Amino acid sequence: MSNIEQTLSIIKPDAVERNLIDEIKKIFKENNFHIKNSKKIHLTKDEAAEFYKVHQSKPFYSDLCSYLASGPIVVMILEGKNAVMANRKLMGATNPKDAEENTIRKLYGISIDKNSIHGSDSLENAKKEIDFFFKS
Ligand code: CDP
Ligand code: MG
Repeated sequence: MSNIEQTLSIIKPDAVERNLIDEIKKIFKENNFHIKNSKKIHLTKDEAAEFYKVHQSKPFYSDLCSYLASGPIVVMILEGKNAVMANRKLMGATNPKDAEENTIRKLYGISIDKNSIHGSDSLENAKKEIDFFFKS
């Protein structure tokens, strides 16, 4: 049975700023993800607020939106077997301190807010997030 999925990944400003784009893309490829689409963009704070609106009631929401809009990001569609959950595993825990060895956040994350990478948390949200950035 085919369970090839697509998920949305974002290389966040802290990682773009440290020139980690190629290293992170290499990790995805080594872990059998196909990068179906990729673009470097710089969101406005309003766009970041729209993207992260599921977090609007959280105390960190405003800082989170400012941060996502603070510099260029790379948005990617990753495709692969069980891509949504496989990507969440490869990213590691939200707080890099709690992330497992060899996860992207363990390798590159600086702090709970500057944690280098975003990944969709469900198939339903993956579809919404892919549409947000790539709907023509
Ligand atoms: O990104 P992930 O799905 O692992 O975590 P989230 O709970 O959906 O939170 C979204 C983002 O908000 C995180 O990736 C962090 O950048 C940020 N965040 C934060 O700044 N402070 C927290 N206490 C929790 C999350
Ligand atoms: Mg999340």
